[in-house]
Amino acid sequence: MPDALLRGLAEALGRDAADHLLIEPALTQPYGTDWTRRWSARPRAVVRPGDVAAVARVVAACAEHATPIVSQGGNTGLVGGSVPGSPDTAVVVSLTRLTEKEPVRRQARQVTVGAGVTVADLARHARAVGLVYGVDLAARDSATIGGTVATNAGGLRVCRYGDTRAQVTGLRAVLADGSVVDRRHGPPKDGAGYDLTGLLVGSEGTLGLVTDVRVRLHEPDPPGVTTLVGCRSLAEAVDLLPASGVRLAEVMTADGLEVTCRVTGMAPPLPTSWPVYLLLQTTALPELPDRAEAVVDDRLVDYRERHPEALATLGVVHKYDVSLPMERLDEVVEQIRATVAPHRLFTYGHLAEGNLHLSVVGPGPDDADIDTDVLGVVAAAGGSIASEHGVGRAKAGLLSLARDDADIAAMRAVKRALDPAGLLNPGVVLV
Ligand code: MLT
Ligand code: ZN
Repeated sequence: MPDALLRGLAEALGRDAADHLLIEPALTQPYGTDWTRRWSARPRAVVRPGDVAAVARVVAACAEHATPIVSQGGNTGLVGGSVPGSPDTAVVVSLTRLTEKEPVRRQARQVTVGAGVTVADLARHARAVGLVYGVDLAARDSATIGGTVATNAGGLRVCRYGDTRAQVTGLRAVLADGSVVDRRHGPPKDGAGYDLTGLLVGSEGTLGLVTDVRVRLHEPDPPGVTTLVGCRSLAEAVDLLPASGVRLAEVMTADGLEVTCRVTGMAPPLPTSWPVYLLLQTTALPELPDRAEAVVDDRLVDYRERHPEALATLGVVHKYDVSLPMERLDEVVEQIRATVAPHRLFTYGHLAEGNLHLSVVGPGPDDADIDTDVLGVVAAAGGSIASEHGVGRAKAGLLSLARDDADIAAMRAVKRALDPAGLLNPGVVLV
């Protein structure tokens, strides 16, 4: 092994190096491409440390050789934040082997797990003692807790339990110099000093590598009702949102539903095709107008959840994860449709937060102009260009659409303080 960096990584991993230091392109390539297939660059090497001490040694070795580090969980990200920005430059540090789960502290309703534990596995661990983890998303079987903390993921249950940040009560992370910050212990209500946990949540691997996370758990809800309602517009769906008792409020449109049914083989859920479909989970049957066409069935969630995989069969999708003013959803979506024409626009998302996932099929993977145009419309309408998937590489160059100069300067100062050499996920969030 001629390369000093690779020698340093091998030393950092010790006996694990034989199986968990990957350098062959055939082995490293899957770690260099994210779920969208839009963001792809071959890692210089991939390391899979088995414990926090090894993560710290790997980071120190990369720092010694001035080598960028991209931390990665289940690699289900959608904004290029979990893969290198250019070929043969960065070491991908996969945290998927950090799968330790402490016993649930039933009385405190909290548990600490390794960053590599999947969302589904954490949910099972909580369920085994009669509790619920508040974040759930379609990628649950692959997405890791570390990745969802790094991106402050939202998902289907934000309207019930809040986003990932709202679940996290502490964490441990390796910083750019290889030191370890440990905020897993002590009471969750703790006002002593800066909120480093809050700072690291949503930092997308640019301030540290999250290795363990302490989260709150919830008592389960009593059984509820899942309803799908045909609507004439997004505005009508917003009008039908009940004022309370909502556990899930998703929206999708006719063309996306048609593709999802075709790809998955599911039958259309309602006899009539509607422009917009509202999917609700509520404590009791929702009040609907007499003319409403609706169906009640727990399995209806599949129609919404399977949209991303169904649309991905149409080609590389330009995905825009935005929040829009609730009063203007139809108007802004139509503006965006006009902006991307003749390409096709599909709309689905988390209605309760005005968080729409706009998927454009047709433009080439490298067409960045269309991204600028779409997100420009979103920003001009007073929306957010990054609601729950993170900024990643996809939107780093457009951050000024979301943050003013003082805000970005403060972010840069934080980044410089914690990562002076700029080695942690360069090109993500800030360029
Ligand atoms: C979803 O809500 O389905 C996810 O955020 C993933 C996606 O938009 O592809
Ligand atoms: Zn989503």
